[in-house]
Amino acid sequence: MCGICGVVGLRHATPIVFEGLRRLEYRGYDSAGIATLANGRVERRRAAGKLDNLAHVLEENPLPGTTGIGHTRWATHGAPTTCNAHPHSTERVAIVHNGIIENFETLRRELEAVGQVFHTETDSETIALMVDYHLAQGLGPKEAALKTLQRLEGAYAIAMIFAGHEGLMIGARHNAPLAVGYGDGEMFLGSDSLALAPLTRRITYMDDGDCVVITPAGAEFMTFDGTPVTRKEQTTALVAGAIGKDGYRHYMEKELHEHPLVIGQTLQRLVDPASRTVVLPDMPFDLASVPRAVITACGSAFYAGMIGRYWLEDIARLPVDIDVASEMRYRNPPLTSGSLGVLVSQSGETADTLAALRSLREKAVHILSILNVEQSTMARESAVVLGTVAGPEISVASTKAFTAQLTVLACLTIATARARGTLDTAGEEALVAALLDLPSRAADVFTSGDAIRRMARVVAEARDVLYLGRGSMFPVAMEGALKLKEISYIHAEAYAAGEMKHGPISLIDRTVPIVASAPYTPLFDKTLSNLQEAKARGGRLLVFTDTKGADRVSAIAEDMVVLPHVHDFVAPILQTIPVQMLAYEVAVLKGTDVDQPRNLAKSVTVE
Ligand code: F6R
Repeated sequence: MCGICGVVGLRHATPIVFEGLRRLEYRGYDSAGIATLANGRVERRRAAGKLDNLAHVLEENPLPGTTGIGHTRWATHGAPTTCNAHPHSTERVAIVHNGIIENFETLRRELEAVGQVFHTETDSETIALMVDYHLAQGLGPKEAALKTLQRLEGAYAIAMIFAGHEGLMIGARHNAPLAVGYGDGEMFLGSDSLALAPLTRRITYMDDGDCVVITPAGAEFMTFDGTPVTRKEQTTALVAGAIGKDGYRHYMEKELHEHPLVIGQTLQRLVDPASRTVVLPDMPFDLASVPRAVITACGSAFYAGMIGRYWLEDIARLPVDIDVASEMRYRNPPLTSGSLGVLVSQSGETADTLAALRSLREKAVHILSILNVEQSTMARESAVVLGTVAGPEISVASTKAFTAQLTVLACLTIATARARGTLDTAGEEALVAALLDLPSRAADVFTSGDAIRRMARVVAEARDVLYLGRGSMFPVAMEGALKLKEISYIHAEAYAAGEMKHGPISLIDRTVPIVASAPYTPLFDKTLSNLQEAKARGGRLLVFTDTKGADRVSAIAEDMVVLPHVHDFVAPILQTIPVQMLAYEVAVLKGTDVDQPRNLAKSVTVE
């Protein structure tokens, strides 16, 4: 949510910062801007909308200088206009900010009272004008920055540059990610290691409450009261080339095709194929003795968690509480200390999930996070991290990270069940075999491309769509509905199929297609009865099933997609792939901006 990039060095800053923003555009694309120091003066270029608009502005009006900061915005306060675009600047300072300054109204009033004039509707401009005020009072850049940071409440990652101070950049973080990159005679700041990947692999992840003073010679870390602190340098594994589209039309299409690969890679980490056992990393607690699990996450990651709940309850016989993180963080549930907190997040930076993690940790819950970005803030605050080895996910709509999360949750379930004595060796071998079979079964799903595109033509004409599923297929239906809403802007709702008759069935007519996930599992007959009820009322059924369910589904469905039949346990993982593909094909037909749907951003670092 908003991306920040900055450089101090010897080279022309603008192209370096611009390339960093390209890699951060998934974090927001409401506007973009860059500021540099040109002959010691602050200069900036900004444009509403996507980064390409900024590219045109820069073409017409280039921005010289070797010290620069840039920003790609997901609007919180103030419309996505050029005027509200970052950097915010005065003649003394330019700043970029990711997050929300919660006390900005108070600070704005104070600054206006001393004569500072605001030009935007943003909370972020407060930072620029407060630093500017302190500079005007005669403080140096570091002192002005620290004095300002001491007043800010909320969440922020900030980068600042100062007129007359070539080769100086100050950064700060509190509840929003920021990383420092080390080059050869040049230094960088970025919201994540992806932004810095082509520039350097040497990175320091800042801690909350850190300020950093950066010059081409290095970085000096301190707390907001100026006390020096030491922060470790790490080497990232990210390679610069890992984010091309590789000939696919969109990142989402490419990432959909990576499902088999990422499931396989994730299994490689957690499964011993020879003994058909799950091998989790050492944990500072015993899975056998956790009294219950609490699962929390947002969006798609939450639906993955819901499937995890079905598994943990059924196979490990572990009581599970689950809620979206934005609710969990304020719910204050009574929890026995020593419970297991399972946090699921692709980015590891989602503000609500991070806050829920912290509130669970305060209740002495063991924190186990399932994360794709293993250097993220959540990773650093968890007792155990189980990585989803999905690689960078660039499309704003999550796809491959979801099946990787399910793969990890499946392995966690098996390990927990074994520890609790609810799964014997033969049982574990059978479930692991089903998991090991998944990458090739997932690859088979792509042979159904034509059938999915046929269904997409029906769905693309609809204004409303219902998604149905039972048991672990219910969260699959929710994932399908979310993906459709998100990228095609068609209204979709998911229901547990058995709930239809308690209300939603009244919506059914020929204009509301029903997309159902109905593989041949123990709930197949029940689901089919619910689908019959919908058909009897004129519903048009588009059904995802498998080879064992195909005959009976074909008798009632207007159209169907037949997947390979797999073990019940892994069926939700396989069935997710075609519902995501359907949303993708509908979005392509509708001509929407598939990878960067309106109003959204990946990595939601504000509450
Ligand atoms: C949906 C989607 C979002 C994310 C959610 C959580 O396609 O991408 O719903 O799943 O914002 O993000 P992470 O997993 O980064 O915590």
